[in-house]
Order: sequence, then C-alpha cells, then structure tokens
Amino acid sequence: MKKNYLGIVSALLLMLLSVNVYAEEITMKITKRYLNIPVSMQQERASMSFVVDGIPERQFNIRLAPTVPDYWVFCDLSAMQGKMLTIDYTGNKQGLSQIYQDDIIAGADSLYKEKYRPQLHFSSRRGWNNDPNGLIYYDGEYHLFYQHNPYETEWGNMHWGHAVSRDLIHWEELPIALYPDNLGTMFSGSAVIDYDNTAGFNKDGKPAMIAIYTADHPDRQTQCIAYSLDKGRTWTKYDGNPVIDSKEKWNSRDTRDPKVFWYAPNREWVMVLNERDGHSIYTSVDLKNWTYRSHVTGFWECPELFELPVDGNQNNKKWVMYGASGNYMIGAFDGHTFTPESGKYFYCTGNIYAAQTYTNIPESDGRRIQIGWGQIVHPGMAFNMMMTLPTELSLRTTKDGVRLFNNPVKEVDKLQTLQYKGKNLRAEDATQKLKPFDNNDCLRIKTTFKLSHATEAGLKLSGQDIVRYNMNHNLVNGVFYTPDDRTSMELTADIIIDRTSVEVFIDRGAYTYVMRRNVNSDNDEGFSFWGTDIDVKNLEVYTMSSIW
Ligand code: FRU
Repeated sequence: MKKNYLGIVSALLLMLLSVNVYAEEITMKITKRYLNIPVSMQQERASMSFVVDGIPERQFNIRLAPTVPDYWVFCDLSAMQGKMLTIDYTGNKQGLSQIYQDDIIAGADSLYKEKYRPQLHFSSRRGWNNDPNGLIYYDGEYHLFYQHNPYETEWGNMHWGHAVSRDLIHWEELPIALYPDNLGTMFSGSAVIDYDNTAGFNKDGKPAMIAIYTADHPDRQTQCIAYSLDKGRTWTKYDGNPVIDSKEKWNSRDTRDPKVFWYAPNREWVMVLNERDGHSIYTSVDLKNWTYRSHVTGFWECPELFELPVDGNQNNKKWVMYGASGNYMIGAFDGHTFTPESGKYFYCTGNIYAAQTYTNIPESDGRRIQIGWGQIVHPGMAFNMMMTLPTELSLRTTKDGVRLFNNPVKEVDKLQTLQYKGKNLRAEDATQKLKPFDNNDCLRIKTTFKLSHATEAGLKLSGQDIVRYNMNHNLVNGVFYTPDDRTSMELTADIIIDRTSVEVFIDRGAYTYVMRRNVNSDNDEGFSFWGTDIDVKNLEVYTMSSIW
C-alpha cells in the first residue's frame, strides 16, 4: 500500500515537471515608451512575434534570456500607445516574464559611458550595426541610416537604424527608420531628395526624401523605395515595390545595395547596383521604372560612383567607382556607362568596409564626404561595431598618376586640444613626450618621422604597431606603400586613437587604414617610437573630447 502511494506521488511529480509552467505568451496594454527585452548569448536564436490589437505586427529572431541576461535590448513602442500587445516566442519561454515596459531603456544611466563605448565615433545604443546607408544632407542635418540588428550584438534582422548630426561629429540616435516587411529584411541602400517631385511623393510643396534599398528575401534580393515627408523621421513604403527584380537576368541572388544620384545633364536618376560580379548602371525618370544600361565587372557589394575634380581643378573632373572593400577605378561616365581609365587601386584597408558618400551636400561646401562601417568588435557590450570617422575624398596627381586621397573632415578638429608640439626629436625624446598620454583613451597624434637606415621604424602603443614602416619591402603595417617622394626616407601619419580603434592617415591621405585596438592586452608599455637612429621631425599631440 505504502509502495503504491509513493509511486502515485512520484508519477504526479513527474507529470507536474513535464508541464510547461511558463506562460505560453504574454499580453500587456502599452502605456510606456519602451519594451525592454533580456538577451543571453548562450541561448539559440528563436522567433519572437508581436500581435498588436489582434493584428500581427512584427517577427524577429532573438536569444531571449531565461534567467540572468548578458544585456538588454529595446523596442520603441511610441506608435502602439494604449494598444494591447501579445508577445509569443518559439524558444525557451521562461524569459517572457522578464520583458517589461518603461519610459527609459534598460541601462540608460550608463549609456555612452560603457567601458568600450567609442568616444569619437558613432555606435548604436543597442545591438549591431554594419554598413552606413542613405547618407544624405538635408535642411541642416547629416543623416546616417545604417544596417542595424536592434535585438542582438551580432548580424541579423536587418533594419535601417537612424541617427542625425548637425556637424558630422555629434550624433543623436533616432527611432528605427525602416522595418522588415513581406518582401524581406532591409539591406543596404541610399537616399535622395526628390526636388522635382519626379516620383510624385512630394506634398504641400515639401520635397520627399526617398530611400532606395534592397529587400532581402530567402528567395531573392529586390530593389525597393520608401519616402519620408518629415526629414527622415517616418517612412512610407511605395506600394508598387519592388522597383527592380533582376535575379533571373543575373541567375544570382546577389543583386543589392542601390546607390542613387541625380544626373543633371540627362535629367535622370542613376542607380549603381551590385549584381553578381560587379556594378550595373540603371537609369530612371521617376525612381519607380528603371532601365538597365551597363555593367562593370570586378566589384563586390555597396557600389559608389561620383565625380571629383583632379587637384581641385573644376575644369578637370574624373569619376570614381568603388565597391565595399574600397577598391576603386577612375574613369569617365556619360550617364549610362562608366568607362574605366585606370587600374584598380585601394586607398584604405583594415577594419573598414562598405563605405558610402553623402548625397545632397550643398554646392557651396562641395566636399565628397564618406563614412564607412568600422568593423570594430566590442566584447561584453550591449552594442557592437561602429562607424568610421567622416572623411573627405579627393583626387590628386601623384607620380603613379591620379589617385584617391582620404582625410578626416575638418570638423574632427573641433574635438581636439593641443597638448604638445615639438620638432626634430630623437626617438627616445619623442617617446618621453608621449609618456603623459600613455593612458589616454582618445588622442590624435600627428607625426613625421625620418629613417636614417633603410630598414624599419615606427610607433607602437603598448606593443601594438600603430605605424610600422618597412622601407626595405615598401610596407606600411604589412601593406604595400611607397611615399610619393621616393627618396625622402620620411613618412607622415595623422593618427586618431579611440577606446577601441585606431585610424591612420598616411602622407596626407595617400593611404589610410583602420584597426582594432588591443583592448585586452596586459602590455602597459604605452607609446614608443622605434627604429635605428630615427628623427621625429614633427610631433603634435592632441587630447580629444568625447562626442557624447
Ligand atoms: C555589406 C552587406 C551588403 C548588404 C548588407 C546586409 O556589408 O553585405 O551587401 O546589403 O551588408 O547587412
């Protein structure tokens, strides 16, 4: 009898344990601005879906934390106030009960002060960023849209995040601009202002800002458009999307990243689109109907095409075409066809990718301003990656012909305070001058050093080569480079150091690279100039103030 009783109790216990004791879904009335969601990177990704007042609203993949989260992400619920939200999750549902509403995002008190938060570069409050998208200047604001996963610090769930700046340096992150839809997730693209109302979206005399982007669907990548009448704050997708579906033509899913600009001589829109093995040109009079014109092989992802004066001479202009890696060709463009007239070169290397340039910069300014995806990892943070500093691109004549140069925009100077300036120092003296700054997070160092021995010299920061010039093999940090003045024995570097990255501009922008800083190194040697008998001809040290 006793034995039987024990058996029944344990069977009941077993039954209880096998029942899912956690809520199947949760429902709440939206009364606050944000929904805070806990994430654990130990969990597999699973699908979360929102139903608002009975209507499916969104679906995304997330690693919902069942217990203690690694970090929190958020959704902006401004548009759902007063409505009933039901959240379902296909993974471990235990974490559903931890999701909560608030008027601030979880961790708001430490926002922008986190241990590894870049202090000179834009990074998203939460989640992941890759390519800059839709770079456009309009009505006093520089817009920075970007590839964004709001729900995790790794790539996925692509949205267009959004930030604006009035000076290219200080950024304000705004709500997400483009959400995934039935055609796919929101891949890279560009933006234009439709001054002449060619697409018919303008209203009350206000020109529409139009985004041209790729929708990434498991089956195909198509090109779509959306418009905004309130300076990029809210967006309406065109109901005739997609405007280009070229998978069959190319027998490839890889048709993406439309970069569009107005080509005044033909009064037409021009789109450069990466398709399979290079960049295609399409044209349109209304941004909705596109005609294929030509194709240049040899590029991958994130096309760019723009015109620049050579050596500042407005009567001698050339076109530059590049892809995501920064490889470029210089040539001619007649509105339909880009004709390469040069070899294929690079102007930057390292942890920069998918750079794009600004559209609609006023003629009085005239600069070609670029921002790239800074592939800088931020371990243990609630955000990951960053944008590179805005730079100005120019074409200059060198001994090898016309080349693309890349330099920080002048606005970066606003962050700097001169701390030391000296000339003609021995390496040891220059190292001593840098000692007080060994532990500064953010610095700008401008230097010219001259070798007296035809081998190697450079500048290290706690064991990491910031600049390593090997004259014997013509290498700067391992990449082929020769100064234009072949026999000078000199190298000039403009070095911008942030908490997690270093950007180096060699010889006034002739060659640039972006690198990760060794944040986890135990080495605390600080700065040191090294090399046989080198002369530091110039050394300027600036502390940099935070953009946040
Ligand atoms: C480049 C890229 C683009 C694509 C986007 C997706 O980094 O692969 O080609 O549109 O990222 O996030």
